Amino acid sequence: MKTAEYSPGLEGIIAGTTTISHVNPERNSLMYRGYDIKDLVQNSTFEEVAYLMIRGHLPNQGEYDAFCSQLKQERSIPQTIIETFKTLPAKSNPMDMLKVGVALLALSDPDKDDDSHEANVRKAIRLVAKFPALITYSYRISRGQEIVQPDASLGHGENFLYMLLGKKPDSYISHVFDSSLICYVDHGFNASTFAARVTVSTLSDIYSGTLSAIGALKGPLHGGANEEAMKMLLEVGSPENAEAWVLDALATKKKIMGFGHREYKTGDPRAAILTEMGAEISEKLGDARWYKTASVVEATMNREKQILPNVDFPTSYIYYLMGLPIEIYTPIFALARIAGWTSHMIEQLDNNRLIRPKALYEGPQHVEYVARDRR
Ligand code: ACO
Repeated sequence: MKTAEYSPGLEGIIAGTTTISHVNPERNSLMYRGYDIKDLVQNSTFEEVAYLMIRGHLPNQGEYDAFCSQLKQERSIPQTIIETFKTLPAKSNPMDMLKVGVALLALSDPDKDDDSHEANVRKAIRLVAKFPALITYSYRISRGQEIVQPDASLGHGENFLYMLLGKKPDSYISHVFDSSLICYVDHGFNASTFAARVTVSTLSDIYSGTLSAIGALKGPLHGGANEEAMKMLLEVGSPENAEAWVLDALATKKKIMGFGHREYKTGDPRAAILTEMGAEISEKLGDARWYKTASVVEATMNREKQILPNVDFPTSYIYYLMGLPIEIYTPIFALARIAGWTSHMIEQLDNNRLIRPKALYEGPQHVEYVARDRR
């Protein structure tokens, strides 16, 4: 058996191989199946990137059109799930409701007993297609609002915004939102993807892996950071207040949400792309308050700690400017990452070996057992 050095948090440990995405901290780059995300954000759409992840190559026009219409056909969810959402406590956490939705969806999937590669691809496409309904229906129902049916004339991202807010976004907002989804699609063996891979490596199914992934993404050290970052910006309140706020937070050893990364120590390429978009959308919407506040937080963090923003920092104020409710930011991360999670689970299952690391035992040894009445 091979032995390896212990590394807390598995930092620096190679836990498997993949052909899906390449995080390259030396070059501050991120590639999906060999394509730089900068090129994908500039030229592609979320649907095309989802196809690339799941099928392994960029679609030609015919494949793209067929994939987009397949996603549209699969947008609805069973009425029983909608009825169950009506029974959940008001204002439930949207990530928890997403888990409920995915668990119920598993029961009605026509391929639930088929674990072949093609059946897994079909399940992946269904999950990608149905996430907007799961997220927006559960959210709207739990907040006492009517659900909004999908609109077949809209693409994946803009339809999500329509189903969430009840009004069609303009093309610029749709473009920025789609770009953020592309940036969120995948990121090597991040915690949620790894959780999904561990789960299916026991030969469990893709729905179970998705549930593991949603649970891992929810935490503020991972996907939950985009919500926490916006709450922080609201607390900071203004560019004038930002430097003192950060200095005070650092003095009390607080973590600044949306900053730092296990892999990138000299900049997250997704943050660079989205910060530029953050500046642009602020100008276009005539509201620079959050971008300016964020810029001072960023400069102070850089000066004091040399810690840079990650993808979750610019998305926080971009989504806020779009008028999206804060508690839906992490589900939006999931809306995009489901394409990455399912691709990784298919890759894992296509060439599976159980993921089962060792623990370094640090507890007592050979302790004498003392009967209960003598303790
Ligand atoms: N604010 C303040 N200090 C920080 C931050 C931060 N955001 N991030 C790291 N540091 C400091 C730590 O306090 C630590 O300092 P120390 O050595 O003096 O104790 C040092 O930098 C190393 O930090 P670790 O937490 O050990 O680094 P790790 O690689 O484990 O953490 C992580 C990476 C979890 C992302 C961390 O930077 C963090 O907690 N950031 C805030 C949460 C966040 O934004 N998460 C989103 C990540 S990206 C994503 O999931 C898409």
